[in-house]
Amino acid sequence: MSPKTIPVEPFDCVIFGGTGDLSLRKLLPALYHRDVDGQVPERSRIFSISRKAMDAGSYRRLVDERFGKHKADQESWDRFLGRLDHIALDAAGSTGWSGLKERLDEIPGQVRVFYLATAPSLYGPVCARLGEAGLATPDARVVVEKPIGHDLASARRINDEIGRVFAEHQTYRIDHYLGKETVQNLVALRFANSLFEPLWSATWIDHVQITVAETVGLEGRADYYDTAGALRDMVQNHLLQLLCLVALEPPRTFDADAVRDEKIKVLRALAPIGEGEQAIIRGQYRRGAADGKAVPGYLEELSEGRTSRTETFVALKVSIGNWRWAGVPFYLRTGKRLAERTSEIVIQFRQVPHSIFPRSAGTLEGNRLVIRLQPDEGITLHLMTKEPGPGGLRLKPAPLDLSFAEAFTGRVPEAYERLLLDVVRGNPTLFMRRDEVEAAWTWLDATLRTWEEGGETPKPYMAGSWGPTAATAMIERDGRTWYEDT
Ligand code: BG6
Repeated sequence: MSPKTIPVEPFDCVIFGGTGDLSLRKLLPALYHRDVDGQVPERSRIFSISRKAMDAGSYRRLVDERFGKHKADQESWDRFLGRLDHIALDAAGSTGWSGLKERLDEIPGQVRVFYLATAPSLYGPVCARLGEAGLATPDARVVVEKPIGHDLASARRINDEIGRVFAEHQTYRIDHYLGKETVQNLVALRFANSLFEPLWSATWIDHVQITVAETVGLEGRADYYDTAGALRDMVQNHLLQLLCLVALEPPRTFDADAVRDEKIKVLRALAPIGEGEQAIIRGQYRRGAADGKAVPGYLEELSEGRTSRTETFVALKVSIGNWRWAGVPFYLRTGKRLAERTSEIVIQFRQVPHSIFPRSAGTLEGNRLVIRLQPDEGITLHLMTKEPGPGGLRLKPAPLDLSFAEAFTGRVPEAYERLLLDVVRGNPTLFMRRDEVEAAWTWLDATLRTWEEGGETPKPYMAGSWGPTAATAMIERDGRTWYEDT
């Protein structure tokens, strides 16, 4: 059965923060695309919730203005708009909930998805109200976005508040990186091929690099970002999830708990930051250029005269204390206003143990597997080959390239399309379990506290560069280089 035809039950999706950026930019377009593909059954409805007083007609017009120009055709667009409604309700207040209940009770037995596209401080209060209003029925699900807290204690508090109303199997903590096609492909690459597994350990792998580089700056999110920084915004969730998928042991099945049980083992095996050879470099961008245009520095973007010690870049050397990965450094790096938008995982294999070739053949380089997550999704395996031609044997690395755009036709679904329908289907495999989120915070907590108490300032780097020179020095000290420098 093709994934497009896996059946989905009719559902009601209630989006708290329905007039906000996440809903209009990501969630509604994702639901529309699934609708076009026939995966949103008849009778399914989408309710937007916000304090704004507007009727269904005005809400549909708002959605039409924001996204209508991307519609596939008028018929599917009209059908989709017909599913939308808006209910004005103050998520933090106590009035208006019975009205929501009445609307939902119009179709009994329908799967209910409550999507909290709100500030995390509202997760607890909204769940409590849903409970009081009798809306948290056994087949209801609640979806929460990152950041879940800003440290271990606040994450536990939020998880407790959600847990008072919804059971763990009803709670879907989204990390949209897990919904990306290429990230799921990493699982396919490792566990649907026999080629890599025998080589996937310290015996054959020298080190791993995980880079998520962005060219964008604050994009109007200064208030949130300045309280978060790269470590909380990207490393605690997206980069650690990628690390887990590279490092986990083969799960017994692709079921939620089998996969998440293996991920948590990786998180718990992470050596404390700063211990032994571990390193961490923080940076903050200064004015420079992005995508060919002059751009201001972080502090200027925040607002004139502001000071801040928030990091917009972080590079870490991390190690995993288990048999498979002992002695294999994982270099993680992410930042805003970097030279290129690129997310990739590089697996650097060791050199062959003994060369049979004369010096004149050239230097033997270890094989390198590069998994490009975005853009230009694909996989490249760098192999040593003989350079064609007479005059002796000369060896050269050459790429074996799989471009997803060339190998597979059709549009690549956005992460939220897969994830939203997984919630409706009741499949939490690609979502974070409570213990995972808390294990990730446990690992970061001490470092965050040291920075906050210690007053250390992040190192400056120019917008449009690859981050502070200290990040290059960090990897070069180990006799290695970042992938883009090779
Ligand atoms: C979000 C972060 O989770 O991920 C943003 O909050 C970041 O700061 C974004 O820009 C990156 O996502 P993507 O899908 O564009 O790589």
